[in-house]
Amino acid sequence: MLIGILSRKRSLYSTGRLRESAGRLGHDTLVLDPLQCDLVFGRRAPDIFYRGLGRKLPELDVVLPRIGASITERGLAVVNQFDMQGVPLVNNSQPIARSRDKLRSLQLLARAGLDIPKTVMARHPSQVKAALEIVGGPPAILKLLRGTQGIGVILAETEQMMQQVLETFWSLGMTILIQEFIEESEGRDIRAVVVGKRGVTAMRRQARVGEFRSNVHRGGTGVVVELPEAYKAAALRATRIMGLQLAGVDMLESREGPKVMEINSTPGFEGIERCSGVDVGSAIIEYAVSFARRRQRAGRSAAAVPPAGD
Ligand SMILES: Nc1ncnc2c1ncn2[C@@H]1O[C@H](COP(=O)(O)OP(=O)(O)O)[C@@H](O)[C@H]1O
Ligand SMILES: [Mg+2]
Repeated sequence: MLIGILSRKRSLYSTGRLRESAGRLGHDTLVLDPLQCDLVFGRRAPDIFYRGLGRKLPELDVVLPRIGASITERGLAVVNQFDMQGVPLVNNSQPIARSRDKLRSLQLLARAGLDIPKTVMARHPSQVKAALEIVGGPPAILKLLRGTQGIGVILAETEQMMQQVLETFWSLGMTILIQEFIEESEGRDIRAVVVGKRGVTAMRRQARVGEFRSNVHRGGTGVVVELPEAYKAAALRATRIMGLQLAGVDMLESREGPKVMEINSTPGFEGIERCSGVDVGSAIIEYAVSFARRRQRAGRSAAAVPPAGD
């Protein structure tokens, strides 16, 4: 098969691992920088050109988008164009867009009955006290709707601090989520990687001393864990609800069990492969190939993943 990998650089760890795994399994890959893709819309088939309008892409059997948060909009336009052409995608654009929006994600998860940290979206200074009561703070967590790698997540220790931070963001016209601080998780969280309908591996991330955010980009370190059944089930369900085929599901270990925090549609796997020894790259390629085969059998235009209802 010819597998397209949408990625800014072939030197990125996860991109490199996907290429290696594909090669080992007997497939060819083409790494495409989404910013170098030009899209043409017209009455005939939607076209994609690469590095100039004279150069049409070869037909790809399946595409793996690895769209960073900074290029979400342009990247998703390219993903959509492949979808219009009937090329199978792991993941498709709508689930990626949905998972980038923390508010939308929490709404969908909560509706499906998954446990999430209690969250309030309010927009008026007079509501800060009431919001704090609902989330059981202070302290409380404040989150930007589209933060990533721990940037945009703040621990407000006092009501006064929360008021100041919120008023600052609100004056800039930004929407902020006010969230219950799961104190007992003590700077730890669980990252589970789901591919297709199965959990491939998981790690527990520990924030560095003096930090509550366990993101690897904030100095967090991971150790491999065998997940209890409740955590596995929550990760699989959350992935399905978002309509994703590949996901990194972040969960907090609360006294009541797993609380799903967010779902990443482009999980990096450097950290998790290093600490678990599990070959995530090959699991993704194997899934993508079998998904593409199923799609080929079903006819290229058939919808592959049912929409999650938004
Ligand atoms: N409600 C919460 N209670 C305790 N810790 C939290 C909470 N929300 C986030 N964190 C910590 O902050 C980190 C980053 O939060 P997250 O929502 O995943 O944002 P990002 O998209 O930036 O990774 C999490 O991995 C976790 O360690
Ligand atoms: Mg996160």
